[in-house]
Amino acid sequence: MNLEELIHYANLAPSGHNTQPWKFSANDNVIRIYPDFSRRLPVVDPDDHALYISLGCALENLTIAANAKGLDAAVCYFPQDEESECIRVSLSVSGDRRCEDLFIAIPNRQSNRRQYDQKAVPEAHIRTLIAANHCESVQISAFTMADQELETIIDLVKEAARIQFRDREFVAELLSWIRFTRKELNDSQDGLTAEVMGFPFVPRWLGSFILKTFAKPESEASKTEKLLRSSSLLMLFISKGNERRHWVDLGRTFQTVALNATSLGLAHAHLNMPCEVESVRRKLSAFLGLKHDEQPLLTIRFGYAEACPRSPRRPVDEVILPTGTK
Ligand SMILES: Cc1cc2nc3c(=O)[nH]c(=O)nc-3n(C[C@H](O)[C@H](O)[C@H](O)COP(=O)(O)O)c2cc1C
Repeated sequence: MNLEELIHYANLAPSGHNTQPWKFSANDNVIRIYPDFSRRLPVVDPDDHALYISLGCALENLTIAANAKGLDAAVCYFPQDEESECIRVSLSVSGDRRCEDLFIAIPNRQSNRRQYDQKAVPEAHIRTLIAANHCESVQISAFTMADQELETIIDLVKEAARIQFRDREFVAELLSWIRFTRKELNDSQDGLTAEVMGFPFVPRWLGSFILKTFAKPESEASKTEKLLRSSSLLMLFISKGNERRHWVDLGRTFQTVALNATSLGLAHAHLNMPCEVESVRRKLSAFLGLKHDEQPLLTIRFGYAEACPRSPRRPVDEVILPTGTK
């Protein structure tokens, strides 16, 4: 059983600002996933829900890769008998290879921030994406461009984008995770690279100046609206609970939907602003008629577009704790 290979696939998971907020250990056919709080995003994610969603994405990749290699993966969330907070995945040979389509999609999946081409997604594909949700505590609400509710959601996305880009701390945190130069990218192998954000490598002072000068609340709101209107489908991922394990499950569902979308040739990207700004999240919850412990935590657009540059990952040996660590 090549545990390092499985961790390689887990490490390809998406994460907020590409922080990769995880560490892994591998001992005796057990892989543990640990949150790495040194990589948290205190401004945009003060309660760490996005951090746990990212762990859920990594967990989903890990179980899909294990299943595709003929392994069963028994998952235990935050077991009390562990020394440190972790998700424990115990692997055993089943001999039965499953999830091979999703496994192939793992390295091909990417967040694609381009404009999409507005081509409608076939109904059958929308049904496939919704049916991919295997977590009871997660609900998906899907909207096509013809749905009237979308106009209210677009207004809320814009309202949240304005609030975020008016907030100096939000902009400072975002800037700290942008890798403006090739050297910054090579040194960290994380964060949002200039290429991925759609601009050339430039010195940090120039990139910061450009972002602070041109990424104004109103221009960001309009840009976001344009991206959304170029898309074909919007999905809200709603958590029916507000604890760590619910957030991890939401990440698992999102990741499996994203991999299914990739297999179907669909691009996707986050427009999470209305889920990140608490006042707007409350308005969105009220608009959707959600109960008090239900929250929309991810807003994802889907559509068709050319692939974009890949985002970096740290090498596997940087995310694995030394052998023997539990
Ligand atoms: C919980 C979570 C929140 C995210 N929030 C945003 C977001 O608000 N805006 C955005 O453009 N991308 C967002 N992303 C996408 C990440 O930036 C992306 O996964 C990361 O840069 C790695 O790139 P990749 O998905 O192409 O591998 C989010 C991803 C996750 C898992």
